[in-house]
Amino acid sequence: MLIDAALGLLPASVKQHAQAWQNFASLRSDRLRFMERLAARGEPVVELPISLYHVYVLFDLDDIKEILVNQTRKVHKGMGLERAKEVLGEGLLTAEGDAHLRQRRLVQPAFHKQRLRGYGSAMIDCTTQYRSELQDGELRDMHTEMMRLTLRIVGRTLFDVDTSADADEIGQCLHNFVQSFNFTMLPFYPLLRHLPLPQVRRIHATRAALDRYIYRIIDERRKSGRDHGDLLSMLIAATDQESEGATTLSDTQLRDECLTLLLAGHETTANALTWTLFLLSQHPAVEQRLLGEIDSVLGDRLPTIDDLPRLSYCEQVVAESLRLYPPAYAIARRVLEPIDLPSGHRLQPGSLAIVPIRVIHRLPTFYPDPERFDPERFTAEAKARRPRFAYLPFSHGPRNCIGEHFAWMEAVLVLATLLQRVQFRLAPGQVVEPDPLITLRARYGMRMRVCARRPRPQAS
Ligand code: HEM
Repeated sequence: MLIDAALGLLPASVKQHAQAWQNFASLRSDRLRFMERLAARGEPVVELPISLYHVYVLFDLDDIKEILVNQTRKVHKGMGLERAKEVLGEGLLTAEGDAHLRQRRLVQPAFHKQRLRGYGSAMIDCTTQYRSELQDGELRDMHTEMMRLTLRIVGRTLFDVDTSADADEIGQCLHNFVQSFNFTMLPFYPLLRHLPLPQVRRIHATRAALDRYIYRIIDERRKSGRDHGDLLSMLIAATDQESEGATTLSDTQLRDECLTLLLAGHETTANALTWTLFLLSQHPAVEQRLLGEIDSVLGDRLPTIDDLPRLSYCEQVVAESLRLYPPAYAIARRVLEPIDLPSGHRLQPGSLAIVPIRVIHRLPTFYPDPERFDPERFTAEAKARRPRFAYLPFSHGPRNCIGEHFAWMEAVLVLATLLQRVQFRLAPGQVVEPDPLITLRARYGMRMRVCARRPRPQAS
């Protein structure tokens, strides 16, 4: 109130600067509420200054489609990913233009349907082994556990490596990387990054540790000289090719690609699984129905990839969890050329366009009573009634998630394999709050009690 009153007394240009910094402060103190307040205005586009930037937040689905699908040549990734290059380099997630197209073409075969089928058994294997380590009644932080499990899965499937010995170090690096997000998003970061600040040193140390890990994997594979038929062998072959017209990668690109897939390939899915376990622990009726499906489809045997079509309620549960807690809760684009949006707004070059995925997923027009966890929203009929862009946990268009099918398959197989034997109950006193950094993590972790499931009495 006082700030608003003071702003009223200032000349227009000073007022605008003050407003820009006030917006910046609100965004930093509570990113999710800030976006919700903007959505409550009910406008298709909210245009506002934030620190040094002119920002458009898009709430209209046609406008969102325009940015993500029709005008991709006129935009680049937003500031968060731009600055993540400090650690990630220029892999598939952060590369732009032709370099991105080339990399996408190169990596795509690792995600073809036939390849995915092969990954299914590794996913089940890793989860079964993890499941066997769980003790009835013990407390585990499911956020950390799911990070380890999904890291192990992506290591096995795409790189044919066992990450278990290095999981803690990679987890720590990832933690530092994610925690550095707020610092790298400071408007003067391009200057700050040259100063000997502890945060800058931590970013350098994180990069160095990840480099050591990734280059070790690459070196070992090169020395082995064997084609493992996985993504890593494919990428190394592409790096070593010298023939004219071949899609080649430099050693640095190879490192960037591997690191990107290792990190992007486990962090998001781990968050999705953690939120799903939390939601199930709070909704016993949904959990019971899900357990019923798992028991009737699997009985006592392990799942296989052929069970996926029959685990449809499990998929609905994951879909609803991704609606409420989308790991990529917002995506941003930097505008390079003027863009005229279907809603009539013109985006100016140099500005940022934000797609607030989590807010779109909670618009009552598409999701009545939006806070309610209700997997019925994802039956085939319910989905057919909604516009496609009202649901975008994996984004859409040429920069959508390359790992989408991998992630669906992994989430359903991991859940079914775990819940066949155990349930998870939130630990007493566990505070649950989303932490919107690069992804939507659980701010205080997710300590849960492991409860072994009793075998069901046989029907006589
Ligand atoms: C629930 C799990 C996941 C979610 C919610 C998710 C979400 C997303 C989203 C929203 C994007 C677009 C980002 C943007 O446009 O700025 C993206 C891109 C990407 N994701 Fe995922 N992802 C998941 C799992 C995976 C997995 C399992 C992999 C790999 C194994 C992966 C690899 C990538 C890569 C490489 C990109 C960049 C694609 C490109 O720009 O061409 N993701 N993901």
